[in-house]
Amino acid sequence: MIPADFIEKKKMGQEHTAEEIKEFIGGYVSGEIPDYQMAAWLMAVNFQGMTDRETIALVDVMLHSGETIDLSHIDAYKVDKHSTGGVGDKVSLILAPLANAAGCVVPMISGHSLGHSGGTLDKLESIPNFNVMLSKAEFIRLVKKYGLAMGGQTKEVVPADRKMYALRDVTATVKSIPLICGSILSKKIAEGIDGLVLDVKTGNGAFLPEYNQSQKLARRLKNVGQHFGLNVKAVITDMNQPLGNAVGNWLEVVESIEVLKGGGPADLIEVTMHLTAWMVVLSGLEKSFDKAWTRLEKTIASGAAWEKFLMMVENQGGDVDMVTHPKKYLKAGYIAPVEAPEDGYVEAIDSYTIGMSALELGAGRRSLKDKIKPEVGFIIAKKIGDKVAKGEPLVQVHAPNKEAGETARAQLLKAFRISGHKVAAPPLIYETF
Ligand code: URA
Repeated sequence: MIPADFIEKKKMGQEHTAEEIKEFIGGYVSGEIPDYQMAAWLMAVNFQGMTDRETIALVDVMLHSGETIDLSHIDAYKVDKHSTGGVGDKVSLILAPLANAAGCVVPMISGHSLGHSGGTLDKLESIPNFNVMLSKAEFIRLVKKYGLAMGGQTKEVVPADRKMYALRDVTATVKSIPLICGSILSKKIAEGIDGLVLDVKTGNGAFLPEYNQSQKLARRLKNVGQHFGLNVKAVITDMNQPLGNAVGNWLEVVESIEVLKGGGPADLIEVTMHLTAWMVVLSGLEKSFDKAWTRLEKTIASGAAWEKFLMMVENQGGDVDMVTHPKKYLKAGYIAPVEAPEDGYVEAIDSYTIGMSALELGAGRRSLKDKIKPEVGFIIAKKIGDKVAKGEPLVQVHAPNKEAGETARAQLLKAFRISGHKVAAPPLIYETF
């Protein structure tokens, strides 16, 4: 295969064969195909798309580009959840111990923050000494013994995604349905799971903000995942405003603890319960979604979900005292409100700007070398539909210092649109595939 011919074919909107895809991606992983040819092909895919057949071939070659985790000796249904990424999305922190306490076996492999969207690993790492970089052997041991582990991807698993993602990030080719499918599904299938619940975000804080794109992504993820023998539920959920109130790593851990203990914001509870209930159903623990929901309510009320969270923190070396006494944690250097400029109702919140402001404060990374500041972020006080009076706080900014805090306050003020008329809150769950 001549690489330029392969790129030309996609540029003209033609379908590749599985063999061609295997050769091209394989050549890129081994170093024979240079970044510039891969970048050109990624851009061609970005504009022309890929068929289901091509996407399956892409997932297959990415999956086999490295090691996989074999959990087949664990005689239980293994189920995970993956979100396409959002702002304030701390669902995994609650869902994994909750699902486990309800009887599910959860081998969860997550990622670090990506652009404006937060990462589960950074949130977990804000718990002092919590080890997310588990070796493959340790990950398998924890899943076998406790039915729960939350770790990061090792270098050996799906190296194709590591290399391709880094290039997509700098060539404006992240927002492509087949490329997102290849990236997510290859990593999830490599985990050795049987079932997967996908949280496909839609709205201004999602990677694919437009609803019809989210639908296409959900359908494609389901079809392609099923081809590989995965049981998939794909749920489209709202990302037109941050989920819950907290944005920022430690602030999100604290909010997750509230939910695990039976409190917390209603929107976060609803989305988490919904996704976890599907995990319970996929695992065959309950026949219906409603029964799964009731099981989860009991699991939280009995304290079992919180106990599992503590167990996980202890298993992975985290400071249990810190999560049981979160007030002991270090505070941001400068905490100040963003006040409503007028009376009215919150009409819209620009989640992308909120995510980017959090990143600038140190909640995310501009480059891999950046060090996360776990204590910074925001507490959103008013959500879409809420009534506000002039001067009332819309958000509390938790910044490392006054200068950074004032910059964030100015940015956040622009992220809120206030209307004189009543506004309905957007739905939380749109569709399930
Ligand atoms: N998350 C991933 O893991 N990959 C993508 O391509 C987008 C979001």
